[in-house]
Amino acid sequence: MENDLRHVAVIMDGNGRWAAKRGLERIEGHYKGVEAVRELIVSALDEKVEYLTIYAFSKENWGRDKKEVDGLMELFCKTISLEVPSLVEKGVRVRFLCDRNGLSESVKQSLDYCVEKTADCDKMTMLVALNYSGRAEIAEAVRNIAAAALRGEINPNDIDEKVVADNLLTASVPDPDLIIRTSGEERLSNFLLWQAAYSEFYFTDTLWPDFDGDSFRAAVAEFKKRKRRFGKTNQ
Ligand code: FPP
Repeated sequence: MENDLRHVAVIMDGNGRWAAKRGLERIEGHYKGVEAVRELIVSALDEKVEYLTIYAFSKENWGRDKKEVDGLMELFCKTISLEVPSLVEKGVRVRFLCDRNGLSESVKQSLDYCVEKTADCDKMTMLVALNYSGRAEIAEAVRNIAAAALRGEINPNDIDEKVVADNLLTASVPDPDLIIRTSGEERLSNFLLWQAAYSEFYFTDTLWPDFDGDSFRAAVAEFKKRKRRFGKTNQ
């Protein structure tokens, strides 16, 4: 039997190298990367994926050159608002895996606008990880659970995996079945650390701006061939 593909998560890597190869500024690679995101959404809808998560900006990315960070924030502001009509038309609901602290008012406004306008869409949910860190997400969940225990709302003996999962930014979202990373790098880079426990990984040398519908379908075809055992001997 084929593997179910409910949730695909993507580490969109290689925008900078794509731009450098063409003698362009790094930010131009990121703008080209947005076109690849548009194509990814269409391909994921075609495959009837229910959840699509993309890694847009990690907490560690603040350490990049100011010019690039400012350019990326401007890109998020512009693109996220501009894409709303097309997302609504396609039935894509958007949520953000996001620490709002540290984001500018204009970025926060565009995120809120996008979430509000797409709230009733029901073909697919897209989760955009922006100012995200898997370790920080887990630490925040631990803080919240400890505070609830101090208030007497939960007994520490009752803290199990479900309690932790319910306190993550991905509460109620199934774990990713497939995690794709482009550009030849083979690591998780602080992305969905808890949620990736049994995800299948797919790595490709293709740089993110060149990742098209055929690239996505190749990843899905490979995923379907995998034997998923979840630690057991048989599925
Ligand atoms: C990694 O490539 C890419 C990023 C840090 C940014 C990804 C963002 C987008 C594709 C835009 C998404 C847009 C929206 C609206 C969510 P890199 O810069 O690390 O590339 P390199 O490794 O070649 O330098």
